[in-house]
Amino acid sequence: MIGVNFLICIYIRVMKTGKIAGRQPVQVELQPGVTYKWCRCGLSSNQPYCDDKAHLGTGIEPKVFTVSSPRKVWLCMCKQTKMVPYCDGSHNHLKD
Ligand code: FES
Repeated sequence: MIGVNFLICIYIRVMKTGKIAGRQPVQVELQPGVTYKWCRCGLSSNQPYCDDKAHLGTGIEPKVFTVSSPRKVWLCMCKQTKMVPYCDGSHNHLKD
């Protein structure tokens, strides 16, 4: 029998996973000295970055990050990555 705590954990997991904003990662060039806010909710109108408003009320906050040297990276657009904010290939396992 499935316990209430198990169902609550599933509910929280679903609520904290962002909406799929894209099915492929996006390559960007990041610069040191810049603070980036990666959209975790998937609702931003400024993907892959947070637009500072779409996540309000979702309980999901953007991932704030910086880099120490210039670099090209692939940022996750499916919002399922375990290596936030970078692509980990999770988009290859999305269900429709
Ligand atoms: S708009 Fe998605 S995390 Fe801010």
